[in-house]
Amino acid sequence: MKDLLRTSDLSVDDLRLLLELAARFKQRPYQHRSELSNQSVVLYFAKPSTRTRISMATAVARLGGVPITVGASELQLGRGETIEDTARTISRYARAFVVRTFADEDVRRFAAAASIPVVNALTDGHHPCQSLADLLTLQEKLGPIDRLRVAYLGDGNNVCHSLVEGVVMLGGSIAVATPPELSPDPDVIAVARAIGERTGGSVELVEDPAEAARGADALYTDVWLSMGDADEERARRSALLTPYRVDAALMARARPGAAFLHCLPDHRGEEVTAEVVDGPASVVFDQAENRLHTAVALLYALVEERLTGH
Ligand code: CP
Ligand code: NVA
Repeated sequence: MKDLLRTSDLSVDDLRLLLELAARFKQRPYQHRSELSNQSVVLYFAKPSTRTRISMATAVARLGGVPITVGASELQLGRGETIEDTARTISRYARAFVVRTFADEDVRRFAAAASIPVVNALTDGHHPCQSLADLLTLQEKLGPIDRLRVAYLGDGNNVCHSLVEGVVMLGGSIAVATPPELSPDPDVIAVARAIGERTGGSVELVEDPAEAARGADALYTDVWLSMGDADEERARRSALLTPYRVDAALMARARPGAAFLHCLPDHRGEEVTAEVVDGPASVVFDQAENRLHTAVALLYALVEERLTGH
């Protein structure tokens, strides 16, 4: 397996391996300092980023490499050079190419033209790197995923898609509560359900946030307006999504001791109240930290060719 474009590109064994490696790197962060020595990894961001950008750059450094971070206006890509020529050129210099962009088709084109591993660092459709950190955090806080029921509430977006795929791959169950207008991509749900038939995992789509939250081990939400969404959508989305805000009353429907997760950045008072995101159930900064350990694991596994793909 050369590229990671969505979580379900991994086999279940690959996913388990990445989580094991990440747990190991977390305990012994400086054990693998040479896998990328004398090599660079290009990190391309066509959208803003705090966690992905800095955790990926740090992960490259931990493996002994040099991260080269570039924005959209800094490459000739911004002046019309093709995705294919950009990918072929970067393949002659770097050991891997990490891409945050808009259309999923664009990251697929980068991957098809590049001879080096391409990692999706968030597109409009998927955020596989986030799901690795989410799964590691769920395991650490709550135990094996196949015993968990996760509830995702709000917009059926990129973070939701990757979380659904990851939870189902590990045999867990996930309830996704969205307004019908913002439900997750049916193709992603079909892929997840097909995987669930093999793993015992399941995904349930509901409209009522209270129904999804009832008895859940973890509640997860994300922003109402993603970076790929038009700003004119803001008012319509706020109106649709206000009933999905995670507040203390919704948390009280989950099982006692349930965790609150969010990929960050969050908007306190919109999709989550301050009392929840800053409260004792919140594990959001553990998730953020785990972005680093899972990024080290992912880059290591890709350059060492340890992944088979599904
Ligand atoms: N969660 C996440 O991907 O955050 P950034 O947009 O800050 O990278
Ligand atoms: N869904 C959000 C996630 C940000 C990390 C977005 O795409 O903007």
